[in-house]
Amino acid sequence: MVRYPSDSLDLPHMRVSYGEKLVSSSPVDSGDLDEASLADGWLPLFSQWLVDASEYVASDGGRIAEPNAMVLGTVDDEGFPATRTVLCKGADERGVVFFTNYESTKAQHISVNPFVSATFPWIALARQIHVRGRVEKVSDEETLEYWRTRPRGSQLGAWASHQSEPIESRELLLGALDRMAARFHDVDEVPVPPFWGGFRIHPKSVEFWQGRRNRLHNRLRCELGDGGCIVRVTRVQP
Ligand SMILES: Cc1cc2nc3c(=O)[nH]c(=O)nc-3n(C[C@H](O)[C@H](O)[C@H](O)COP(=O)(O)O)c2cc1C
Repeated sequence: MVRYPSDSLDLPHMRVSYGEKLVSSSPVDSGDLDEASLADGWLPLFSQWLVDASEYVASDGGRIAEPNAMVLGTVDDEGFPATRTVLCKGADERGVVFFTNYESTKAQHISVNPFVSATFPWIALARQIHVRGRVEKVSDEETLEYWRTRPRGSQLGAWASHQSEPIESRELLLGALDRMAARFHDVDEVPVPPFWGGFRIHPKSVEFWQGRRNRLHNRLRCELGDGGCIVRVTRVQP
């Protein structure tokens, strides 16, 4: 009989209780998340939690890998959802920005259904933020500004990859990178590929989740108006 690694995992019993030894109820929260934290809008708390995630050091010295990673959910033209991880590369009153290939599967979903969700799962901090909203391309200037911060290798990689398209072998992919390196050999600044850029999620709702004992977690959901201001904060049962 073939044995799979998951045979040795007891998934039904795999749980960690917040407030117990393994994971403290929230290593960075001494008190309960409350409505007062949202008095100045969703952005200050959102920004603070991103900073906390990027600065957090566990007792064994471990850090949170990719603290700005978020799981992006899109829906295709048949209503079939898909998720994948992308990096949040900007956040302000207008919303949350990520960069990607404009011909990728996610971008095709967005072109037929411009509503997405994004979840920041900071499990080590017993925190999660969930954003839902309409998504739009950022300006070419904004894409260029971010593009210039990327290492040259990542820029060439973006040129080389037809993201989400099948390819027969890794060798072909590495060959595409070599061709791009040769193409831009004499160029100081690699230009932005015409098929690459940013999207901004304009949040319609932002939910802050804080893990608490006995699964009685705190959830505060902000509904936002057109200008990005909070029009309602609702405490939601865990
Ligand atoms: C930690 C992490 C960060 C990632 N960041 C990005 C990103 O910022 N942009 C991006 O296009 N893909 C990123 N990816 C790859 C995506 O998860 C995904 O494989 C790719 O975008 C293709 O998705 P699609 O075929 O659904 O369009 C990241 C993956 C991981 C694991």
